[in-house]
Amino acid sequence: MVWQPDAVENDEVERLPEHVAENRRHWDEHADEWVEAGQRSWRAEPSWGMWGIPNTQIPLLPEDLGGRHAIELGCGTGYVSAWMRRRGASVYAIDNSQRQLETARKLAEQNGVTDIEWVHGNAETVEQPDESFDFAISEYGAAIWCDPYVWIPEAHRLLRTGGELVFLGNHPFGMVCSALDGSYPARLTLQRDYFGLGRMDWTGAAEDPGGIEFNMEFSSWLRLFRDVGFDVIDYFELQAPADASGPRFWVTAEWARRFPAEQAWILRKR
Ligand SMILES: C[S@@+](CC[C@H](N)C(=O)[O-])C[C@H]1O[C@@H](n2cnc3c(N)ncnc32)[C@H](O)[C@@H]1O
Repeated sequence: MVWQPDAVENDEVERLPEHVAENRRHWDEHADEWVEAGQRSWRAEPSWGMWGIPNTQIPLLPEDLGGRHAIELGCGTGYVSAWMRRRGASVYAIDNSQRQLETARKLAEQNGVTDIEWVHGNAETVEQPDESFDFAISEYGAAIWCDPYVWIPEAHRLLRTGGELVFLGNHPFGMVCSALDGSYPARLTLQRDYFGLGRMDWTGAAEDPGGIEFNMEFSSWLRLFRDVGFDVIDYFELQAPADASGPRFWVTAEWARRFPAEQAWILRKR
């Protein structure tokens, strides 16, 4: 059965930016498909990206988040928030999809976690005061589904000076090699322009249709960080491990061993 938003929600949806409304529709419709993976990740140790690279190799989460107030921007099923809570942070987790949050709340209850604040909303405009967080993270949430010229300044506003923003998402190189018709897997040749990647509309895609994503050239990411007031602390291009094989989401392991499919940034507010 396809999930339908109620009438009140429909009014609200009309006021959202087009990509936020479409992404809400997309994630509400597909939330059921992510429950099992969410369940596994809630119990697992932190690992990152399509290949589950351990946090010990790609240290996106500090070992100790004790005493820190953290926000997850686009928390989905909530496992990154759970990992932060386990490491001592107090956590505010926002997501655009009620159905994804239903899963997050259910998994929190199953795992005996009672004190994560789950909030329905758009990570581009978070109803929290300036400088209220020490740490912000997005794993394929705002990182790919929100307009970077809106959500990166918003994350900056929410952080205290010295606070960190960490995010993981698709690598622009992978996007340039993704077929124009949205069919999988990524190709070995360039499929679309690198300059002006910007808004990527997958609503008519051949596989997994729906949703509007964003990505950009390295120079644009770097200039945005600088202009908004972030310093780059680290940057990772995730590579498929030697023993991985076959397709995973929109790439194959063979492709992702040769080229970067995913990127992660660690930034600090100046
Ligand atoms: C692939 S999930 C990633 C979240 C989490 N890491 C997980 O795997 O469960 C993407 C999430 O981003 C959320 N999202 C998309 N646009 C958003 C927005 N504007 N504000 C907040 N969350 C958003 C979606 O609702 C979805 O739950």
